[in-house]
Amino acid sequence: MENKELFIEKITSSYKPKGAFIYLGSGILGKEIIAPAQVNLALKMMNRHGLIAGATGTGKTRTLQLIAEQLSDEAVPVFMLDVKGDLSGLYEAGQSNPALIERGEILERPFVPAGFPVELFSLTGDKGIPMRITLSDFGPIMLARILELNETQTGVLTALYKYADDNKMALVNFADLKSLLSYLSQGKGAEEIKNDYGKISSSTSGTILRKIVGIEQQGLSTVFGEPSFDINDLFQKVDGKGVINLLNISDIQNQPILFSTFLLSLLDQLFRKLPEVGNPDKPNLVFFFDEAHLLFKDASKTFLSHVDQIIRLIRSKGVGVFFCTQAATDVPANVLGQLGNRIQHALRAFTPNDAEALRQTVKTYPRSEFYEIDQVLTQLGTGQALITVLNDKGIPTEVVATHLIPPRASMEPLNEATYQQLVKSSDLSRKYSELVDNHSASEIVAEKVKQDTSDTIRAEQQHDKVKTTGRTSNRQTSMEAAQKTLIRTLAAGAGRVILTAISAFLIGKKKR
Ligand SMILES: Nc1ncnc2c1ncn2[C@@H]1O[C@H](COP(=O)(O)OP(=O)(O)O)[C@@H](O)[C@H]1O
Ligand SMILES: [Mg+2]
Repeated sequence: MENKELFIEKITSSYKPKGAFIYLGSGILGKEIIAPAQVNLALKMMNRHGLIAGATGTGKTRTLQLIAEQLSDEAVPVFMLDVKGDLSGLYEAGQSNPALIERGEILERPFVPAGFPVELFSLTGDKGIPMRITLSDFGPIMLARILELNETQTGVLTALYKYADDNKMALVNFADLKSLLSYLSQGKGAEEIKNDYGKISSSTSGTILRKIVGIEQQGLSTVFGEPSFDINDLFQKVDGKGVINLLNISDIQNQPILFSTFLLSLLDQLFRKLPEVGNPDKPNLVFFFDEAHLLFKDASKTFLSHVDQIIRLIRSKGVGVFFCTQAATDVPANVLGQLGNRIQHALRAFTPNDAEALRQTVKTYPRSEFYEIDQVLTQLGTGQALITVLNDKGIPTEVVATHLIPPRASMEPLNEATYQQLVKSSDLSRKYSELVDNHSASEIVAEKVKQDTSDTIRAEQQHDKVKTTGRTSNRQTSMEAAQKTLIRTLAAGAGRVILTAISAFLIGKKKR
């Protein structure tokens, strides 16, 4: 009895923020759930980031959901990576059932269903409003990562970007990149950059082109284009509620490098474009990465240090980032060290690997007078978690096993018809659905080539006039070469721009 009062006293004093907060649930002591021992997460500390971890089926995704719901209520917009497409139900009020009612009763918070404003996005455009980015904004480092380029190839890509920038050519989509690469790796273009940017070997340009084609063949090139996504559209509010932006990647789950890099570039843009706000009373935006292990899988050193840096710096822009993974060990140590708020669901200890992960996790918790950490971690039930967050002063709170409140929106995905209707009726659909083709690098290069070609022809005609021997040259004129390339492209069924032809030509050459 005494122990219980002490517990309530300790938990309430540790988890009572001065400002707005999210109610996560109440403390568990022994087998008893103690409603008055409320466990709260201060909004003020959400830009100190967080980790939600635990074995499959222990309740991680629903924890994300209940936090997102309460952020929405507090007018804080949210961005969530919806890996399996099962968060769209946030739009609809949840169906009451005995389990949810009981959970509410135990916590002395009756279950009140509610739906939330949701925007549905997709990188392919198949599962929502297309979220595009231009290659210029994406940058050479990120692009090198998705193309899986080696150092030399990355160097060439970086030079290409520099050239485009110096010459005010927008790199919007792969057509731009391919034409520029082709132009600069041969003839006049190669001549032009030789001194300032170096020479591009035909094998390097051939490899880069092939890798681009690889991405295109997987149907992923649509991510790069215009209109590109304006990050300001992540900050919408509807009737005073923050909008929950869901990026559905269920159709490209097997492309972790593509979507993780895209997300990182989104964070990067937020960081670069948002004003400095210091430590606001509540976050401007909270990012949730469900299944975050996909983000770090096979990541290069450069990529990881990029993540580390962005996470470190984005705090002062009022953006909080929460990762959700099976084990804390999925997150690189330098990133993990920056995650101030921790919600650890149950861990299994079946295999030696599990046992090791458990040992590692236990080590990261402070001592508790109420729990044996290793035992609690393996005994937590579904929708329960071991929690420690940062209090108002940035000091870690008392560790507490918590029975979590249920989400109020549906835990099922929306049915297909409602889903499509929601996508179609969004204002953002009108803004982003129609692909535009602005004047960018491919057009500029095409003009350059046309200019170069006619210059050469003029020079050749001059030359022929002077030479009057009548002997036929076996050298192809530029015009003939251009015509042949054009014919080849038309034959391949791609007639867009003459420059696409040149890339096709280069690739064809490699194969032969
Ligand atoms: N806070 C909660 N309130 C009510 N039910 C929950 C809660 N957390 C988890 N559950 C139940 O457990 C199931 C699995 O949770 P989920 O979040 O999908 O697990 P994970 O993401 O860890 O694999 C949910 O479908 C739900 O029925
Ligand atoms: Mg999950």
